[in-house]
Amino acid sequence: MSKAPSSKINNMSELKATCKSPANIAFIKYWGKTDPKTRVPQNNSISMCLSGLFSICTVEFRRGYYLDKIMFLDEKVVKKKERERIIAVLDRVRKLKKTKLKARVVTKNNFPKAVGIASSASGLSSVTFAACQALGLNLTKVELSKLCRLASGTACRSVPDGFVEWKKGTNTNDSYSVQIFPPDYWDIVDVVVIVSSEMKKISSTEGHALANTSPFQKSRLLGMPAQIKAIKKAMKEKNFTAFGQIIEQESLNMHAICLTSQPSILYWNPSTIRIMKDVQAWRQAYPDSRLESYFTIDAGSSVHIICQKKDKRRLVTRLKRTVGVEKIVVNQPSVGARIIDEHLF
Ligand code: PMV
Repeated sequence: MSKAPSSKINNMSELKATCKSPANIAFIKYWGKTDPKTRVPQNNSISMCLSGLFSICTVEFRRGYYLDKIMFLDEKVVKKKERERIIAVLDRVRKLKKTKLKARVVTKNNFPKAVGIASSASGLSSVTFAACQALGLNLTKVELSKLCRLASGTACRSVPDGFVEWKKGTNTNDSYSVQIFPPDYWDIVDVVVIVSSEMKKISSTEGHALANTSPFQKSRLLGMPAQIKAIKKAMKEKNFTAFGQIIEQESLNMHAICLTSQPSILYWNPSTIRIMKDVQAWRQAYPDSRLESYFTIDAGSSVHIICQKKDKRRLVTRLKRTVGVEKIVVNQPSVGARIIDEHLF
């Protein structure tokens, strides 16, 4: 089994490491858990690591620290829930290493949190990997993916490079992500459109917990194996039209669960809907102005628009003219979590 990329700790007095980890976009979504505690999902999911959206985290364990100190660069406060989640990561890693050393954690994202671009995936996978590396735990990618899953489900998909499948497994020991294709396999692009930087009101953790209250969740899960098979076939054949149709329908399927949960969750805002309609209209336009792209939306208001590389520029030009667009981030398929040399402190 391949080892997670590692840079050996030469000087044992410096238990410090930095990780850069990407966000990822799910083409087949994870929505609903069989076990909320260990975040074992109800279905397999398929995703792609994103080149333009990432977190960087430095973790240092030290004898002189009496408390875990956590800081987000560019933000004044660390919310209680975020702090607890990061300390839970440190505790899991300390338990593996059998140490009680406290740590200093500094982390930053290059994008806003909680607007539907998987900040927990990049954020918590980077903390987990940096902490393991700082303590010299040499985990395999599979072990690391499982550990990341305990921090945030989607974080386990930010470990392998490129196009990834999270195999739901049956319990905490066999639920992890693996690569299905490397990043350079397919020239597709994810143009992320941020329409609001306002934090969403209902977290994805709360959303997952409500999934089974939707009368449609059972049928979603029943159809899942066929969906996974169909998308893998479209990816294998690089059939962009078949692939696009599956991802757009799948995203609407997940949001149908959200809308019909009790209470209902509506993650979109008017700009989200305007862009969804534009994407569909651009596909149906006359040949001269036709633009083939497909949307997919996570638990937030941001829209991910997937197109082929040849259409990227036209898509971005149109989006720049669209009312309600706050920010556009263009992403290629990227590598997964990596240890880097530049520390944040
Ligand atoms: O952020 P998490 O791990 O609680 O889950 C969010 C799940 C979605 O982003 C909505 C879908 C997915 O598979 O990424």
